[in-house]
This record gives sequence, C-alpha cells and structure tokens, in this order.
Amino acid sequence: MVVWFLFLATMFLNNAGVAGQADDTGFVSIDCGLAGNFSYKDASSTLTYISDEAFIDTGTNHNISAAYVTSTLSPHYLNVRSFSNGTRNCYTIRSLVKGEKYLVRATFMYGNYDGLNKGVIFDLHIGVNYWKSVNISDPDKRTIAEVIFVAPVDYIQVCLVNTGLGTPFISSLDLRPIKNSLYPLANSSQSLALQHRLNAGPTDTTIIRYPDDPHDRMWEPWSNVPYWTEITTSSHVQSVQNDIFEVPSAVLQTAVTPVNATPANASELKFFWLADPPNKDPEYLANLHFSELMNLTKDQKREFNITLNDAMFSPEPFSPDPLYANAVYGFKPVHGRQQYIFTLKATANSTLPPIVNAVEVFVVLQVSGIPTDSADVSAINAIKSQYQIKRDWYGDPCVPKTYAWDGLNCSDVASGSPRITVLRLASSGLTGEITNAFANLKALQTLDLSHNNLTGSIPAVLSELPSLAILDLTGNKLNGPIPSALLTKSKDGSLTLRVADNADLCYDETECNQWKKKSNSSKIAIAIIVPIVVVLILGSAGILIIRKFRRSGSYMKPSKTPENMENHQFTYRDLEQITNNFQQEIGRGGFGVVYSGCLVDGTQVAVKMQRDRSTQEVNDFMVEAQHLARIHHRNLVSLIGYCNDENCLALVLEYMSEGSLQDHLRGRAGGGQPLTWRERIQIALDSAKGAKTNRIEYAINALRIVI
Ligand SMILES: *[C@@H]1O[C@H](CO)[C@@H](O)[C@H](O)[C@H]1NC(C)=O
Ligand SMILES: *[C@@H]1O[C@H](CO)[C@@H](O)[C@H](O)[C@H]1NC(C)=O
Ligand SMILES: *[C@@H]1O[C@H](CO)[C@@H](O)[C@H](O)[C@H]1NC(C)=O
Ligand SMILES: *[C@@H]1O[C@H](CO)[C@@H](O)[C@H](O)[C@H]1NC(C)=O
Ligand SMILES: *[C@@H]1O[C@H](CO)[C@@H](O)[C@H](O)[C@H]1NC(C)=O
Ligand SMILES: *[C@@H]1O[C@H](CO)[C@@H](O)[C@H](O)[C@H]1NC(C)=O
Ligand SMILES: *[C@@H]1O[C@H](CO)[C@@H](O)[C@H](O)[C@H]1NC(C)=O
Ligand SMILES: *[C@@H]1O[C@H](CO)[C@@H](O)[C@H](O)[C@H]1NC(C)=O
Ligand SMILES: *[C@@H]1O[C@H](CO)[C@@H](O)[C@H](O)[C@H]1NC(C)=O
Ligand SMILES: *[C@@H]1O[C@H](CO)[C@@H](O)[C@H](O)[C@H]1NC(C)=O
Ligand SMILES: *[C@@H]1O[C@H](CO)[C@@H](O)[C@H](O)[C@H]1NC(C)=O
Repeated sequence: MVVWFLFLATMFLNNAGVAGQADDTGFVSIDCGLAGNFSYKDASSTLTYISDEAFIDTGTNHNISAAYVTSTLSPHYLNVRSFSNGTRNCYTIRSLVKGEKYLVRATFMYGNYDGLNKGVIFDLHIGVNYWKSVNISDPDKRTIAEVIFVAPVDYIQVCLVNTGLGTPFISSLDLRPIKNSLYPLANSSQSLALQHRLNAGPTDTTIIRYPDDPHDRMWEPWSNVPYWTEITTSSHVQSVQNDIFEVPSAVLQTAVTPVNATPANASELKFFWLADPPNKDPEYLANLHFSELMNLTKDQKREFNITLNDAMFSPEPFSPDPLYANAVYGFKPVHGRQQYIFTLKATANSTLPPIVNAVEVFVVLQVSGIPTDSADVSAINAIKSQYQIKRDWYGDPCVPKTYAWDGLNCSDVASGSPRITVLRLASSGLTGEITNAFANLKALQTLDLSHNNLTGSIPAVLSELPSLAILDLTGNKLNGPIPSALLTKSKDGSLTLRVADNADLCYDETECNQWKKKSNSSKIAIAIIVPIVVVLILGSAGILIIRKFRRSGSYMKPSKTPENMENHQFTYRDLEQITNNFQQEIGRGGFGVVYSGCLVDGTQVAVKMQRDRSTQEVNDFMVEAQHLARIHHRNLVSLIGYCNDENCLALVLEYMSEGSLQDHLRGRAGGGQPLTWRERIQIALDSAKGAKTNRIEYAINALRIVI
C-alpha cells in the first residue's frame, strides 16, 4: 500500500489559518419537494434552502408522514419529490465552471411519504456517469450520497434512475464549489463518491457542517463505547500550508483512543468498513486525519503503525503533531475484499496509545461517459421546448447509451463528445413552424419530421447542415417554395428529400415562380401600405384603434356598387367648393398637395391633387382609382371619390383628424408621443392584412397613386 504523508514542519506554518475562512459563494441548497415559491434559512447550517422547481420539471411533491416528523429533523427532510414516471429524471444545476471541482450531495428520507411503507432501490447518476445505488429500507433512516467531481461542462445533472425496484425520490440536493487543490485524487478522469465521513469522538448525534466546515461537508459523529474514549481540546487546531483536505478545527478538536479498561486492546485502535455493494467490488480510497490534542511532557510519546488489511498504510511509524492538522491518505485504490480493516498499533517506544480524529472513505468512480456535444444539447433542448415534446427526454440525450433519448441516434464516443446524427420525430403531433434549432444539430444526417402538423415554409438554413442525407417532411401543412439549396442537393443526389402531402408547398419551378411573385408582392405591399395608411386614430391606452370604413352621403355607396365609379366622380369645381378654394393644405409630397375639405353633408375629406397628368398617368389613374374604390379594409383609408377632367387629377379620401401615420411615427401629431415599436409592428401587420384580404395587386397599384 502506497501512502502519502501530509506532514508539517513548524517552519511551513506561517499564515496557516486557512481553515476558518468561509467561502460560501456558489452554494446551491435545494429542498426537493418544497412548493415553488418557498425558501427558508436552515437554522443549524444558516444556509438558505430553496424550492427545486427551477431545477426540474418532472415529479410530484409529497410531505413525509407525520409519524416521522420530529423536532430535531432537518427541515429539508420534511418533504420529497418523487418520480413515478420515466426511467431517468434529472435535476439540472447550471452556472458551474467547466473544469472546476464541486461537491454534490443528495439526501433521502422516505418517511412513508406515499403511505405504502415500502422499501425502494434506485440508481443515482452524476452527469452521464453512474454514481451509486440508493437502498432505502427504513422509513426514518437518513441516507446521504455525496460525490466530489470535476465539472466536464458548465452544468451538472443529477439523475434518479428507476431500476424497477420502486419509485425514486429525493429530499435535498446541495452543490458546493471546492478549490481544485483539495482532494487531488478527484480529477477529470475520476470522481470520489463518499462512503463514510466520520468525526471521531462525540457520542451525541450532532453533524458538523457549515459554518464550522466552510466547504459544508457533513462530518458524522463516531464513537465506540465502551472500548474507545474521547479526547478533546478547546484549542484551535491549525491547518497546514497547502492543506489538501482542510478538515475543520471543530472536527479535529475531538479524537478517540482505546480505553485502559480493556488492556488487551489498550495499544490498538481497530475499525473497518464493508464493501458495498459486495458484488461490484468497488475501489476504495481512505483518508485518516490526525492531530495531537494532549500537552505531552518530554517523556511522553505517541507513535503508531497504521495498517490496512495487514498491509502497511503508513510507510513508517506515525506521530501526530500537536494542534496541527495531519493526514495519512492512500492514493492507490484498494479493492477485492468484503471487509477493509484499519489497525493503528502503538510502537514499542510509544508511551501512549494511538488516536484518530477523523476518517473519510471514498469509492473511486471512473469518469467514462463523455456528455453529448453541448451545442447539440442546447439545440435538442430548444426543439424539445418549442414543440413541447412529451417523451421520456431527460438527462443527456446520448449518454449513457441505455438511457439515450428515443428518436435519436448518436455518433460514437470514440471520436470525442457524442453528436446527434439521427432525429426521428415522425407522427409526434408537432405543430407550428420548423424551428431553426434543427439547423444547429450540425452532425445531423437524418431528419424525419413526417406526418406532423408543421406549417410555414421550409427554412433554407436546413441546407447548411453539412451531413444531412435524408430530410423527410412528408405529410405536413408546409407552404411556399422548397429552398433552392435543398433542391440542388436533392438533384445532385446528396440529399433524399421527401416533401409529399404538403398542400401549399410548390414543387416545380413555374409554380414556385408564381408563388415567389406573390410573396414578393406582398412584401412590397407591406412596404408601400405602411407609409400611406394615412390617418390612424391612436387610442389613449396606447392601443391603436383603427378607423372603420365609413360611408358618406349620396356620394358613396361602395359596398353596393363597387364597380360603379359614377357616384365617385367630382369636377374641379366640386373640389374648389369642397376645399373652399384649396384653402387649407394639410400635406405635401411627390404626388402633389393634400387639402382638407368638407362635403355638403359635413363629412370631412382629404383631397389629393396630382401634379402631373400625362396620358399614361391618366389611364393608370383611372384604373387605380377604380381599384382603390373597391378596396375596403378597416386598416386602409377609404376612397370617397376622384376627379379626372382637363383641370384636375385628384383623389378624395376619407379624412382622419388624428394626423398622418408619418406624424405618429415621428411623434408630431398633437404633440403626442411617437408610436412605440410594438404599435409600429401592429400597423405593419394590420396593413399587411389590409393587402391580403383584398387582391394584393389592386392594393399595390391603387395605392401607388396615393403616394
Ligand atoms: C405561494 O403561492 C401560493 C399560490 O400561488 C399562494 O397561495 C401562497 O401564498 C404563496 N406563498 C408564498 C410564501 O409566497
Ligand atoms: C406539505 O405541508 C405544507 C405545510 O404543512 C403544506 O403547505 C403543503 O401543501 C404540503 N404539501 C403537500 C404536497 O401536501
Ligand atoms: C405520468 O404520466 C401520465 C401519462 O403520461 C400523466 O397523466 C401523469 O400526470 C404523470 N404523472 C406524473 C407524476 O408526472
Ligand atoms: C437493501 O438493504 C436491505 C436492508 O439493509 C438489505 O437487506 C438488502 O439486501 C439491500 N438490497 C440490496 C440490493 O443491496
Ligand atoms: C487522475 O488521478 C489518477 C490517480 O492519481 C491518475 O491516474 C489520472 O491520470 C488522473 N487523471 C488526470 C486527467 O489527471
Ligand atoms: C480487542 O482485541 C481482541 C483480540 O486482540 C480483538 O479480537 C477485538 O476485536 C479487539 N476489540 C477492539 C474493540 O479493538
Ligand atoms: C501545555 O503545556 C505548556 C507548558 O507546560 C503550557 O504553557 C501550555 O499552556 C499547555 N497547553 C495546553 C493546551 O494545555
Ligand atoms: C511498525 O513498523 C515498523 C516498520 O515500519 C516495524 O519495524 C515495527 O515492528 C512495527 N511495530 C509494530 C508494533 O507493529
Ligand atoms: C526506540 O527508542 C530507542 C531509544 O530511544 C531507539 O534507539 C529506537 O530506534 C526506537 N525505536 C523505534 C522503532 O523508533
Ligand atoms: C438508430 O438506433 C436504432 C436503435 O438503437 C437502430 O435500430 C437504428 O438502426 C439506428 N439508425 C441508424 C440510422 O443508425
Ligand atoms: C393536425 O391537427 C388536426 C387538428 O388541428 C388534427 O385533427 C390532426 O390529427 C393533426 N394531424 C397530425 C398528423 O397530427
């Protein structure tokens, strides 16, 4: 057995008071099963425990049975979260730093929360690696699982895995950052799962943790009456420089030693642990912590040999330093036994029996699983949440293979982080548009989205997936053209593209060209209509109230005789009267000048006078005026009439008193506020609707005149 000594020489001990420094930044303390909006300060640890709702979205909350509630029970044991559904349910704690060291601790107390009074056995995973099996047989037994690990990514998942032996549950979950220099045997290729962490001495039940231990490890009291007796000191036990364990003084201030009353054992301390589970032959590492607590006289000496299963654990006889933290620890794991026995035996020259202050035993966990590529994980999670996918999709998508998400295939670990290569979501009730997140699964070879209710167009970014070989979109409600880059890939044989059974998808070029024209027109329509939806009424609550179509007297019966322009015709004289000799100018632009006016029935109007009048323009004007007369949409101003004689070319439009859209855009109308972006977007959308509910071409052409 090879062992390192953590020894100290007095000259190394300046500034050795490290142990007292509390570093509680980054602690996450989760009370599992606590209602969503609750948190509380734990009286004994002084730490704030929060509900687990932000860390998991499966499982149900339960309170333990009143029969198991005692006044001394830590509050985090009062409720649990249990997982009757799914094989693997995972907590996700974010904001870790990749490559940093952490301690994660989960606690469990059954407390007959489900009234079934039944034992349960389930597995715990830390990230994508097996952590330990939890065997709960006693309703009021508190089980603590802890692991020290180096974060492989910037988040950690703790998963409860149903092994068919009952419903997994959990009482609390803690995350504690640990300095990388501590527990050097925990590194990126191996983690340390705690088996025992014992504070030798106390005969009560007090667990030492934060704030006594700044790293919030839990040190359980440990004694063996009547064979052992406790030695204590009230003096502070100093940490040593470069201490790799930083055992708190409170733990080292107590120790055990054999009692004189059992002379046969007076020079010997023996203790052991059992392999657990015995069939898996776990590999163990142990740390023994020491400090001399007695004021030794010159002729007193405490010296002992340490053996583990009859093999020397310390290379030479060991003598603890007074009031300084010493450790003797193994760095080659031991395995292959049912029982591991430590024997601390006084040497011939020792006048005092051996002591021990604290013991830690860990199972070495090989970090064999590599988590799925983090970009793939983000993308698949985005897809999962976008379509609210109701599958057993929890934990890492690809690792371990046994629990990989259904519907996915992944690349082999051999080439680094697994990548998602196949995604099959056929007949999965997907609705809405095809999210661009699919295009972030950069290693995707097959994407099957057939037989869903997907709408919208096919995103062109899918063509940027370098390895995509099969894209199946059969049986959706997709529309628009198939992106040309996908068609090209399909034609050159690098992509199998299946798009049948999409009613509004265009397949051949002619069809697509028509579609394209339409879609381009509608874009232009929006661009044009927005600036000329001339007058809008702005509601007081910031809601845009859009003017309804209004008929005016005998001049207008558009809904009855939309094609009949007779009723809309005005002469130059009429316009002179209406505008009171073009007295009040209310606008001016490329088209000419707009005047305010009043019809005989009192209806306010806007009269737009066209500046030029070439033959072509007159013809266009007539056509467009007719078209505009036929467009009646709540989002567009109505045409009341027009003038087309040798003296004038003009439109008579419904007048709205709140100013022009442009005024609202700039905040000029009545000194009011400029339109918010939300209102602007609303106008754009409403304008688009205005164009769509009528013949788009009409809208564009007619409105062009007005500009
Ligand atoms: C928690 O939320 C519930 C329901 O919304 C409410 O009745 C309760 O008062 C809240 N409790 C706290 C502590 O905010
Ligand atoms: C658990 O008990 C608390 C307080 O006694 C109560 O507010 C909560 O609703 C209970 N939770 C469940 C899941 O029964
Ligand atoms: C378990 O799944 C079923 C069916 O999917 C669902 O009705 C039920 O609410 C789920 N139970 C829990 C605890 O999530
Ligand atoms: C679980 O614990 C009980 C009681 O300690 C024990 O009898 C049983 O063998 C254990 N089961 C396993 C699979 O370890
Ligand atoms: C982790 O520690 C073990 C034991 O000391 C060592 O064999 C292994 O190489 C270390 N791994 C890394 C990545 O440092
Ligand atoms: C005391 O010594 C006897 C014989 O050496 C041994 O069998 C026993 O386990 C020892 N007891 C303790 C508590 O060390
Ligand atoms: C140990 O003994 C020395 C000298 O006898 C004394 O000064 C010191 O206070 C003692 N320390 C403790 C912790 O008893
Ligand atoms: C302690 O170990 C040394 C070798 O390191 C050995 O010589 C000595 O006999 C041992 N003493 C006892 C009491 O086992
Ligand atoms: C015991 O003490 C004697 C005399 O001080 C010394 O010579 C011998 O080396 C010591 N033995 C051990 C094992 O330390
Ligand atoms: C995907 O995985 C399933 C099950 O693991 C397997 O049957 C299938 O052949 C795989 N498909 C591909 C394309 O690798
Ligand atoms: C699509 O949605 C309709 C109802 O909106 C539903 O009847 C139909 O089954 C859905 N089709 C698919 C393939 O999910």
